Amino acid sequence: MTSSIDSALGLVADWSGEALVSHHDRETRTWMFVGIHSTRLGPACGGTRLRVYSSPTEAVRDVLRLAEGMTLKCAAAGLPTGGGKAVLAVPAMPTGADRRALLLRYGRLIDTLRGTYRTGPDMNTSAVDMDVLGEVTPYAFGRSPGNGGSGSSAPDTARGVWHGIRASCAHALGSPDLAGRTVLVQGAGGVGSVLVGLLARDGAKVLVADLAAERVRELERRYGVVPVEPDDVPGTVCDVYAPCATGAVLSAATIPALRCPVVAGAANNQLAEPEDAERLRAAGILYAPDFVINSGGALHLIGTEMLGWDAATLSARVAGIGATLTEIYHHADEWGTTTEEAAETIARARLGSATA
Ligand code: NAI
Ligand code: PHE
Repeated sequence: MTSSIDSALGLVADWSGEALVSHHDRETRTWMFVGIHSTRLGPACGGTRLRVYSSPTEAVRDVLRLAEGMTLKCAAAGLPTGGGKAVLAVPAMPTGADRRALLLRYGRLIDTLRGTYRTGPDMNTSAVDMDVLGEVTPYAFGRSPGNGGSGSSAPDTARGVWHGIRASCAHALGSPDLAGRTVLVQGAGGVGSVLVGLLARDGAKVLVADLAAERVRELERRYGVVPVEPDDVPGTVCDVYAPCATGAVLSAATIPALRCPVVAGAANNQLAEPEDAERLRAAGILYAPDFVINSGGALHLIGTEMLGWDAATLSARVAGIGATLTEIYHHADEWGTTTEEAAETIARARLGSATA
């Protein structure tokens, strides 16, 4: 026990963020961790992830990394907010009355932070969970529209990815036009399924892989997409590979197998390790940094609920993701760096210091 506490504290000691709030929920043996990475530009914003971890230390590792990612995401998107993230490290996925009671206790913890940290949906949490938090704290984005929230952020995330794919094709292939291009969408969930519709509308040839075969079949019926086996994704020939499922899909194992000039998709934490950015560059593959191309969801939640944007403003800001990526690509070429490094440099410059 002592050594695991030491290793968790070591992670915090090496972290560039401001505070880690920790709470142990005795009733359910759930660790609640809230990582407040940066409030330099405004309140720390980022979703709440509900997950079973192999140990509390792994949950700490995840929350620290994800909170820093949100600081970069908000800064790159030009939002007046900082970055944070929360994880509820549950022993098993809670349901029914137990889930509701846990969320109410968690909501009260969020409320004690008085808006320094503002949460929203993330892995395994949804608008329904945000509605529960909303009963005890005003600091939850993404409640359902019937409860005064802005609902799912997935469609705006997909629209941002679509703008990002166009900008990436313009840079790597000479034209943003997607007609006749082959795009492989990995993950046909909330984001991926909307993205598929946008790509099909443009006349792209869309390939889709999902562990849930019925989701692929539904898109086959609606748009005539071509199914791809999930295991075949890395070796599939395409113009654009759009990861829209899980993280860590770009690694020393998968990058040599990729047969595409562009990787541009919604998934968070696509690089398995930092070195993968350089592996992609060396392979001549243009990589759209995930925290930039997937910021449509943050623009939707924060823009609509905190900044009072109307639909036209939100749509213009989501479209701006394309221009931001173009700027990043030019800088990466000019500086001789990876696109990931160029994006981080630009985000940190917006933060006004190297502390975050
Ligand atoms: P989702 O849970 O609705 O959909 C994910 C889909 O991926 C599911 O259909 C699942 O069956 C599939 N999948 C999982 N593992 C797979 C694998 N190995 N191969 C193929 N398919 C697999 O999630 P959502 O909301 O569509 O998000 C997708 C990604 O985008 C996630 O990484 C999420 O963190 C990220 N993201 C989502 C945002 C949002 O607004 N929803 C905002 C920013 C990032
Ligand atoms: N969790 C989502 C993301 O990674 C959406 C989110 C953004 C949630 C901002 C809360 C605040 O972008």
